[in-house]
Amino acid sequence: MLWQSMKKQGLFITFEGIDGCGKSTQVRKAACFLEEKKIPILVTREPGGTPIAEKIRDIILSPDHDSMTNRCELLLYLASRAQHVQEKMRPALEKGVTVLCDRFQEATFAYQGFGRGFLLSTVNQLNQFSTNGLKPSRTYIFDISIECAFSRMKKMVKVPDRIEKSSKELYQKILEGYLKLASNEPSRIKIIDGEESIGSIYNKICDDLSVLFA
Ligand code: TMP
Repeated sequence: MLWQSMKKQGLFITFEGIDGCGKSTQVRKAACFLEEKKIPILVTREPGGTPIAEKIRDIILSPDHDSMTNRCELLLYLASRAQHVQEKMRPALEKGVTVLCDRFQEATFAYQGFGRGFLLSTVNQLNQFSTNGLKPSRTYIFDISIECAFSRMKKMVKVPDRIEKSSKELYQKILEGYLKLASNEPSRIKIIDGEESIGSIYNKICDDLSVLFA
């Protein structure tokens, strides 16, 4: 029967925000929540997610690559995404697996569009090319102040990567960009107050996920 061979697509959910916003913790917690509900999931991240895309990640983020041009940076993020989407994300979604991704297209609009100053129409066109039209059905943007983000980043034990070395001014543009993206698509993109406690953020995300999976 045709209907029996048709598999339901998995949901595609992304977590976004400026560095230090706490999204990666919530990706892990949301994954546990869905696993407990026996929902098949794939947890992944951008840039990266496949061996080739992880190598591209290393090139993009290496603090040794200070001389990387903004155009090169934009294209590398999208090269990583093209590989990730085709090799890993689309096949999972087509099998009915829900994909939780730590960053995706909104990061490119916020960082390279609003932050670096590329036209959003250019970013959009290149992004469409790299994803072949794949778009998240839910995006959580974690909103935290620049001061809070910088104080959290200072406490991190790892050496800051090339992007984390950026100025407060750049991060301010990226943050404003994220909020603008959310206001343009309020039904798909939800703003989460990233300065609330981990538990309270988790509860809000679980409430929303419960509605999505009802
Ligand atoms: P992560 O540290 O959250 O894994 O993300 C890596 C860095 O890459 C982070 O500073 C955000 C940045 N980024 C972009 O500038 N553009 C993008 O398209 C993506 C996916 C990430």
